[in-house]
Amino acid sequence: MKEVPVILFGVGGVGSALLRQIVNGRSPLTTRNQCQFNIIAITDSKTMLWNSDGLSDEQLLAAVDAKAQGLCVDPAHHAQIPTSRVRPSEAEIVQKVTDANLGPAIFVDVTAADGLEPVLMQALDQGHSVVLANKKPLAGPWQTAAPFYNHPRLRHESTVGGGQPVIATLRYLLDVNDKIHRIEGQLSGTLGFICGRLDEGILLSQAIAEAKAKGYTEPDPREDLGGKDVMRKVMILGRMAGWPLEAGDITVESLYTPDLANLSVPEFLKAACQLDAAMNQRVAAALGNGQVLRYVAELAEGRGTVGLKPIPASSPLANMKYISFRTGFYNDEPLLIGGKGAGVEMTAAGVLGDMIGLVRER
Ligand SMILES: NC(=O)c1ccc[n+]([C@@H]2O[C@H](COP(=O)([O-])OP(=O)(O)OC[C@H]3O[C@@H](n4cnc5c(N)ncnc54)[C@H](OP(=O)(O)O)[C@@H]3O)[C@@H](O)[C@H]2O)c1
Repeated sequence: MKEVPVILFGVGGVGSALLRQIVNGRSPLTTRNQCQFNIIAITDSKTMLWNSDGLSDEQLLAAVDAKAQGLCVDPAHHAQIPTSRVRPSEAEIVQKVTDANLGPAIFVDVTAADGLEPVLMQALDQGHSVVLANKKPLAGPWQTAAPFYNHPRLRHESTVGGGQPVIATLRYLLDVNDKIHRIEGQLSGTLGFICGRLDEGILLSQAIAEAKAKGYTEPDPREDLGGKDVMRKVMILGRMAGWPLEAGDITVESLYTPDLANLSVPEFLKAACQLDAAMNQRVAAALGNGQVLRYVAELAEGRGTVGLKPIPASSPLANMKYISFRTGFYNDEPLLIGGKGAGVEMTAAGVLGDMIGLVRER
């Protein structure tokens, strides 16, 4: 049986779900895949838990509980979150893993952190593998992101579509030399929820507040409403398809106006009612034509648009998170993947699937 060292960067919603899935599924995972994930380090932004023999399941679940209570992963700092970092840097952690001579490890980035590209590359250069749910390393300037695309030891299924097999499908199409003509989809569960509430006559400001209260949005809902997260997904798909896109190649419609950009989150939530009248008009115009508004991403020939689009209310696509590929083979009828919007469990399952895939390929 293979023992595979794993290092987890990030113990938030996705990281916690991943740890629970690994711990709760140990026995079937081991039987089916003949491997055991030995989690030697978990980190949040400021602290780390490390044991080169592997952290116990009790330690992992205690860390998940601690994070749920707003504490740190390291029990020495559980009493309060330290104001500054009390762990080695990410680069030092990679070196520590290599120096421990445990063999090739899997580094999992389930943070939303900027600037981890050099560290991830360091891990790959030292013979380790990388799994990303964090889109940022793949969506930065092409020059820094390019080495991650098609790297044999990097997987990122959960970066687009949560746990839906979007990346695996695109990889398969490319492997069989199918030509990608056009990619389209509703790629944000959060914006899908908000659009659904607009159909029901709820004001935009109320739908935003509701999505935030349910935990569907980022802590600052403008991260979702501005379309940046969807833009990153479009960049990842387009770059995989062979178009070395930069952010400027994608036109993004923000669902809030620039004057609301610099407010605090509570101020923004209060001021969001300024957006209601214009949105009401658009919703009513669409409904008058038997349509509903959906936040849709479209990509063809190296250019993309992301924004609200009226689509027929009777279309099955009005009510699901989907992505469609129009290709050489799937030209008349596109290849369609659709289903429930992602959540942390499905996203974590996508990460786990990538980890297992990497082990199988070794
Ligand atoms: N949530 C979803 O359904 C979903 C779906 C698809 C993809 N994703 C992506 O998955 C990633 C994680 O999402 P999430 O919802 O789990 O986010 P989250 O709840 O905000 O958790 C992020 C975690 O990363 C930690 N962190 C930040 N910087 C770090 C660093 N430099 N090193 C180590 N840890 C660091 C944070 O630590 P502190 O606790 O100390 O701040 C926190 O534990 C994001 O990139 C997101 O876009 C999420």
